[in-house]
Amino acid sequence: QRVLVLNGPNLGRLGKREPEVYGSVTHADLADHLVGTGAGLGLSVEVRQTDHEGQMIEWLHEAADSDVPVVLNPAAWTHYSIAVADAVAQVPIVIEVHISNVHAREEFRRHSVVSPYALGVIAGLGLGGYDLALAHLAAIRD
Ligand code: DQA
Repeated sequence: QRVLVLNGPNLGRLGKREPEVYGSVTHADLADHLVGTGAGLGLSVEVRQTDHEGQMIEWLHEAADSDVPVVLNPAAWTHYSIAVADAVAQVPIVIEVHISNVHAREEFRRHSVVSPYALGVIAGLGLGGYDLALAHLAAIRD
């Protein structure tokens, strides 16, 4: 079974970006790691990152049309993009992941416009949150 892992703005800078919050692993290393995690679970994982909202919306449409589950870190779009939320609403299975504990940071990070359309949300468990999301998708696969 295919799974898309989609990462939003600034996540391409993992490893360089606020390492005290997001860690020192790069996006390329995360992507390699998740492909390996997926292989161990019998999932064919593809990892993509974009800083462009329209690109993300097109990828979500692709997931909707091909009925592929998505692990999504919408990054800052989480907090305000109704366009991303509307696209997420069209995808049958989306697990929302945040690397940091968004509830333990600035107040504006506590609200997600995406969560109403997500199957579930994982936050604050670092990059391990992506592995947990993949494990859950493997557990519920038909
Ligand atoms: C994030 C949390 C968001 O508030 C922030 O804008 C991000 C990353 C996380 O993974 O912890 O870019 O989604």
